[in-house]
Amino acid sequence: MGFNRLSTAFAAVTTLLAADLIRAAPCSSDPFKVLDAQNWVNPDDMTWADFKTPPGVDWADPSRKGSERNFNIALVTIDYRDKAFVVTGAPNSTIYGNPLLASASGIQRSDVPAFYRDLLNKPGDINRGHTLHEYWMQDSLGRYGVDLTAFGAYAMPASSFEYGIEDRMNGNGEYCPSGYKCDRDIRADALGLWRAEVGNATADSFELVFILSAGQDESSTWQEFGEMRFQSRDDVPDAFGPPPGLNGGNGTLPNWAKTRYVDWSSWAAASNIWPNAGDGSSTQAESSGMGTYAHELSHLLGIGDNYNNPYGNPRAAPMLAPSPCLTVARLTALVIPPVEGGSMGSLHSLRDKAQLGLVSNTSILHLSREGLATSGMVVATVTARAVDPGPSGLMGLRVDMDADRSPACSIETDVLCDGGGYNHYHVEVVDRMGADSFQPDHGVLLSKTTNDGWTQPFMWTIDANPQDIGLVDFVRPNGTKAYITMGDYRQLLDALFHAGTRSGSQFEHIDEANRLHFYVVDIHRDDAGVLSYTVAVRSLDGSGGSSKHGIELAAGSAKGGNPAGSGVTCAFELSNTGTFAGEGDASHPDSAAAYLDSDVFRLSAAVEGEGWRVEVPNALAAVKFGEKMTAKVAVGGSANAAASAVVTLTATSESDATVLATAKCSVSK
Ligand SMILES: *[C@@H]1O[C@H](CO)[C@@H](O)[C@H](O)[C@H]1NC(C)=O
Ligand SMILES: *[C@@H]1O[C@H](CO)[C@@H](O)[C@H](O)[C@H]1NC(C)=O
Ligand SMILES: *[C@@H]1O[C@H](CO)[C@@H](O)[C@H](O)[C@H]1NC(C)=O
Ligand SMILES: *[C@@H]1O[C@H](CO)[C@@H](O)[C@H](O)[C@H]1NC(C)=O
Ligand SMILES: *[C@@H]1O[C@H](CO)[C@@H](O)[C@H](O)[C@H]1NC(C)=O
Repeated sequence: MGFNRLSTAFAAVTTLLAADLIRAAPCSSDPFKVLDAQNWVNPDDMTWADFKTPPGVDWADPSRKGSERNFNIALVTIDYRDKAFVVTGAPNSTIYGNPLLASASGIQRSDVPAFYRDLLNKPGDINRGHTLHEYWMQDSLGRYGVDLTAFGAYAMPASSFEYGIEDRMNGNGEYCPSGYKCDRDIRADALGLWRAEVGNATADSFELVFILSAGQDESSTWQEFGEMRFQSRDDVPDAFGPPPGLNGGNGTLPNWAKTRYVDWSSWAAASNIWPNAGDGSSTQAESSGMGTYAHELSHLLGIGDNYNNPYGNPRAAPMLAPSPCLTVARLTALVIPPVEGGSMGSLHSLRDKAQLGLVSNTSILHLSREGLATSGMVVATVTARAVDPGPSGLMGLRVDMDADRSPACSIETDVLCDGGGYNHYHVEVVDRMGADSFQPDHGVLLSKTTNDGWTQPFMWTIDANPQDIGLVDFVRPNGTKAYITMGDYRQLLDALFHAGTRSGSQFEHIDEANRLHFYVVDIHRDDAGVLSYTVAVRSLDGSGGSSKHGIELAAGSAKGGNPAGSGVTCAFELSNTGTFAGEGDASHPDSAAAYLDSDVFRLSAAVEGEGWRVEVPNALAAVKFGEKMTAKVAVGGSANAAASAVVTLTATSESDATVLATAKCSVSK
């Protein structure tokens, strides 16, 4: 696709809607308590209060350098004869309502380069201590840091709109005022001015260049100052049209222009630049937050976009997770200076971390589907990707497939068609912590992934809730609600898998065609607040491996509590009486022996007794061979319930469905 290297900003953090965040903590002694409820948050509703510092290292500390590399990046600032830096103006002096902060207005032009250098990379009040260096240090667990040196400001030789109106998204010159030449090369002119001043030796000493352009960017204005504000293209007022006197010379250039995803936006928005990266440099505008720089830096490191056009017809599929750094979150990230929405992108997905060298290869357990058919069930604990899992911990699993056997489907007609041709699955854990604080949810992220990092989609998120999420995108000027499309990345706000029953999400995923069954067995949060999940995966082929499977279930008992009120827990001792036979001749890329010594059992419960109800809070239990654990069933009676009831628990081995046991537990009012 022609726009592979284009991008926009990420997670929006704009309005204040704290109500969602304040929920009564359910009583922890409630036996029916949902283990891991899904309460996703729309990024539009997040605030800085959502930021959670990961325990341990202070990644923002400027004295801590990347252990492998500190990117040496030049920040080249440019302005235009028709467009000064927004931060040099008075508050609310542009048509977009910027600059927003009094503390970031009226800045001398000569101080602008240092202002943005510090905003992006020096911990301070205005950026709340958050920097690009911090982002990359956290994302790479200390491997990569960022040094930023500012240059300019340089006055560009042409008007701003001559660079902003680009043939690839704004028509073929028909929106360019007559007498001007649009689709100009911003890189050639900006880098030329910089090289002429500092000399080639200095310029060549930088690994990367960020070009920071005066003004807003198109990616964060086309919708807000297009269809969100104006009912039709003919309603766009002169203030958002071409500059006075430049309306085509003959008075016929409209106040709107073609934009990237839809037919029109205001001319002003369409004539802004759209951030992109290539050839060792990236372009940003004053409204581009750190998230945009992180995104474009990823492109410079050799990885493409992973997002679709959600407005296309036919719709492309939601090929993206809300999680990886390389998705698009169109959004309300239009504030200058960019200290709200878009100021912190999410962490890279595990697939992308592996490609970019942001994670130790040993933090990923490499398995193969073919190996699973021989080895049997793999059970592992995976730590949230915002935290260092330590030398023996795991950040995730990769399951290689010798071919993607999903049946063919059409991405033109089926919005949920993934296009096929994937090389593996990745399993990782997302927590709303660190740069992932502005993720919509915590949970297990399951994705189909490819080796190739340029042809999209290279990551296809398995959506635990594939149905239309029914989210209002915005309210049109005529009062009609506009809902997000089925292809919008926000369909994935509820995509993550959760542990336990009744979560609002799923705890397992079966890919029948690819012969794989994934499980989310349990959730753990340690005293330091670090999230991890027990996950499992097995092949639907083979006979469960060479280990011998067995189970014993002792009679259950219920102690204390209030059986006819909030209910009680029937506790059953579940023993894995099988014998572990080792890895055998399974051919996983990594040795999986340490993860093969458990079986996963499925629990189901029934109750006999008028007016009594049962629930298994968790329908899965992983138990090591030769060990035991407590299986729990919640049981409760209504006020009119029979005096007593009998609960029956059935536990079945997922590795061998003939291995099962039942046991009973009596309760009375
Ligand atoms: C910004 O200016 C516009 C136009 O003059 C005005 O309508 C708006 O209320 C102002 N906003 C603030 C926050 O002052
Ligand atoms: C500096 O580098 C640019 C592009 O890399 C090249 O076009 C130019 O000739 C060089 N200038 C000198 C003085 O070497
Ligand atoms: C007016 O200018 C526009 C853009 O330059 C051009 O397409 C159009 O044909 C002109 N119209 C007339 C009546 O000259
Ligand atoms: C509002 O505008 C939208 C988009 O133009 C249109 O589809 C819808 O019918 C309009 N609603 C009303 C009530 O006019
Ligand atoms: C990572 O580990 C896998 C499995 O052990 C191996 O095949 C691969 O070559 C390793 N990759 C790197 C970059 O070391």
